Amino acid sequence: MLKRSNDFASKEILNTREAATLLNVTTQTIKNYIYSGKLKAIKTPGGHHRIRLSDLKDLGFAVEQEKTLENYSTPELLTAYNSLLGTLVSTVESLIKALDTRDIVSSGHSSRVADMSCSIGKKMGFTEQKIHDLKLSALLHDVGKVGISEVILGKPGRLTDQEFFLVKKHPEIGGKIVSEIEHLSPYASSIRHHHERFDGRGYPDEIGGTDIELNSRIISVAGAYDFLRSDLTFRKAFSVEDALQEIRRSSGTQFDPEVVQVVADNSLEFH
Ligand SMILES: [Fe+2]
Repeated sequence: MLKRSNDFASKEILNTREAATLLNVTTQTIKNYIYSGKLKAIKTPGGHHRIRLSDLKDLGFAVEQEKTLENYSTPELLTAYNSLLGTLVSTVESLIKALDTRDIVSSGHSSRVADMSCSIGKKMGFTEQKIHDLKLSALLHDVGKVGISEVILGKPGRLTDQEFFLVKKHPEIGGKIVSEIEHLSPYASSIRHHHERFDGRGYPDEIGGTDIELNSRIISVAGAYDFLRSDLTFRKAFSVEDALQEIRRSSGTQFDPEVVQVVADNSLEFH
């Protein structure tokens, strides 16, 4: 743990610079350890600190842990950060997969919406970071359905007004759930607004046009497309052509025309 390559490593009493070199930390870090009581030190008559090698050894393990973070290089930190992000995405993916099975739309809806949303985002020139944000928003867009009865979500056929009223609560519930989770809270607004319409007649806030954030406008199109392409208990899935036709028909009313155009222009990529 302690580096032994220096001559002074065999000395019993060290000054702060030598101690810092041995532990591969700065002298200020050594002073901080002394001031915080983590490391015992002797004071010379001149007021300088001296450290016994044995005390430094006792600190070895704790220091080793702290210095690993201090000494990570930027690429190493990036790798660790990306791996954490990957873990976050796959954890969300697994949880949402379980949740999706409660709905009439075939299982995997949220993952498919996430994939399609990301394809649209890429065509629109999104950066990698923006694609990552879009993916999480899309994966989580229907998370609020956790607060709605399975009997209603899985009901074949038309919902009563009361049932539809409850289903329409899911964007608000989802936004609220996500807003309370650290690291996911930035996605709350795009989740809350994925059922807004471009003409302002959606829900819950009845906002329209570019007041609806772009991620919500993309998820709205991808979600509707996947819904149309799914076999439901009371109707067969639309063909790719028919589903695209339906989406085009609602361009400018339900959907952002720019997003619809991207889907129409790249229809071969969507199945
Ligand atoms: Fe939804």
